[in-house]
Amino acid sequence: MKKGLFISVEGIDGAGKSTHVNFICEYLESKGKTVVVTREPGGTPLGEQIRNLLLHSTNMHHNTELLLMFASRQELIEKIIFPNLKDGICVVADRFVDASLAYQGAGRGLGMAKVKQLINLLEPGLTTDLTFLFNVPLSIAVNRIAKNRNKDRIEEENEDFFTKVQNAYLDIAKAQPDRMKVINTNRLKSETRNEIIQHLDYLLDKQNDAPL
Ligand code: TMP
Repeated sequence: MKKGLFISVEGIDGAGKSTHVNFICEYLESKGKTVVVTREPGGTPLGEQIRNLLLHSTNMHHNTELLLMFASRQELIEKIIFPNLKDGICVVADRFVDASLAYQGAGRGLGMAKVKQLINLLEPGLTTDLTFLFNVPLSIAVNRIAKNRNKDRIEEENEDFFTKVQNAYLDIAKAQPDRMKVINTNRLKSETRNEIIQHLDYLLDKQNDAPL
């Protein structure tokens, strides 16, 4: 039995990531796949409580933030990601470990080494088959966030923080171009979707060609 595909979706706040998560799921389903969608932080009952702490507490130490992200992730891996992948079901993750590298490692300045230690502690072998990095010029993302009146604790951060996050994401994509695809969302939605389809088709073909 082939294992399910593991696809994640990333990007700075305001990059338009969420719009495309549904489309990715619908496209995979149209190709006969069963799909579950997850989000991080959150995605399990305990994880959603942790999400609430992460996004709405005040005065949280950066290390606490990092550890809570991974606590939420541990729940998600054990309860949702692993069991579904094992059953051949595709998992579309609205954020995974790249977010911790970009936001905590770079944005918060905790460093990549510290975040990688936690990745290794949890599930070093679990990597995505494909990650979409949705990208827009920072000024557009910042404008979109500014329009949101109910900003959470992380969205409240300044432009300097999001510059570091965005640059870190782009650095990861440069280092791992086969896994992480940078998708420009500053254009017609149909153009973005066509590019997503190309990458998904390539992945589906590769999966069909793989030996059982
Ligand atoms: P969301 O708005 O995409 O659901 O993500 C919630 C926030 O959590 C977003 O600002 C990014 C942030 N985040 C991190 O800082 N580190 C992480 O590891 C994850 C998964 C999310």
